[in-house]
Amino acid sequence: MRETPQSADLLAWYDVHAREMPWRVSPEDRACGIRPDPYRIWLSEVMLQQTTVAAVQDYFHRFTARWPTLPDLAAAEDQQVMGEWAGLGYYARARNLLKCARVVVADHGGAFPEDHGALLKLPGIGPYTAAAISAIAFDAPETVVDGNVERVMARLHDIHTPLPAAKPELTEAARALTPATRAGDYAQAVMDLGATICTPRKPACGICPWRGPCVARARGTAADLPKKTPKAAKPIWQGIAYVARRTDGALLLERRPDKGLLGGMLGWPGSDWAEAPPAPAAPLQAAWRALPEEARHTFTHFHLRLSIHFADVPQDATPERGDFLPLAAFRPSELPTVMRKVFDLARETLDTAPKP
Ligand code: ADE
Repeated sequence: MRETPQSADLLAWYDVHAREMPWRVSPEDRACGIRPDPYRIWLSEVMLQQTTVAAVQDYFHRFTARWPTLPDLAAAEDQQVMGEWAGLGYYARARNLLKCARVVVADHGGAFPEDHGALLKLPGIGPYTAAAISAIAFDAPETVVDGNVERVMARLHDIHTPLPAAKPELTEAARALTPATRAGDYAQAVMDLGATICTPRKPACGICPWRGPCVARARGTAADLPKKTPKAAKPIWQGIAYVARRTDGALLLERRPDKGLLGGMLGWPGSDWAEAPPAPAAPLQAAWRALPEEARHTFTHFHLRLSIHFADVPQDATPERGDFLPLAAFRPSELPTVMRKVFDLARETLDTAPKP
């Protein structure tokens, strides 16, 4: 008879193979009673949604150097936080991060509540993040389910129901294995297993601590799981971005409204984005020149092609939208990636076009 998967086998593997992460307390230190900082766990988990551990590390270091505690972050200006978040994507996460920090200061004395229900009420904290904070920061036996965990469970039990329909089944499978003690290490162990051994392609089944009980390994189906319902192809949207440079070098930028895509982020004024060719929407009258290359960027639901229009404008130019930002105050790193791509393409023109 096949063995049943045991959390103890996975924890023994994790004790040796846990990945080091800047917010993590190693299993060894955890055993000595050192507890992770809930602020750092929350921050890392919000950053890690839709983003890889490698991409998050530098952002995490910059955030925690600038705002070492949750009250520090709560006291930050919105624009500072949006600027530090630029490039990580899914900007609603950053707006909610700040909202959440401020609610925790106002309603919970600046420390995350340990109660799972209270965590779920906080802005930007859904079932995944609440479970991750409860388990990792407070060692509560909550089950954390991300894409890695779904893949591990689908293989362990050879579940062929395609995602996303399989989510409840996979969540239940994960819940059934969650131990009453060391829930935080266990949650991180399943995620590490998925990230390092039970990988999407070419899983390293030979060295897996769950190779004994894994049904997909026995049946040779591991590499085909989890099944996924095919996604509809993304449409191609178009738009125009306007890059205006004043005689003193200042650049015309506009902060986007809080609601909607790239909400609260700085960007180049532009047309609406849609599948149909865009209507011109120049922020001021000028001799606009279209650059030969367009900026391309993929969002969750569409591909975007932005044509870039550039103009040198006089010092007394008065735009209908946006504000001129002095060159010395302009930091391209504060732009979201698509706007940064526009800047990188326009840069050659900015560097070579003679100023009027
Ligand atoms: N992915 C998201 N959160 C993680 C964590 N705490 N450990 C490993 N991988 C993760």
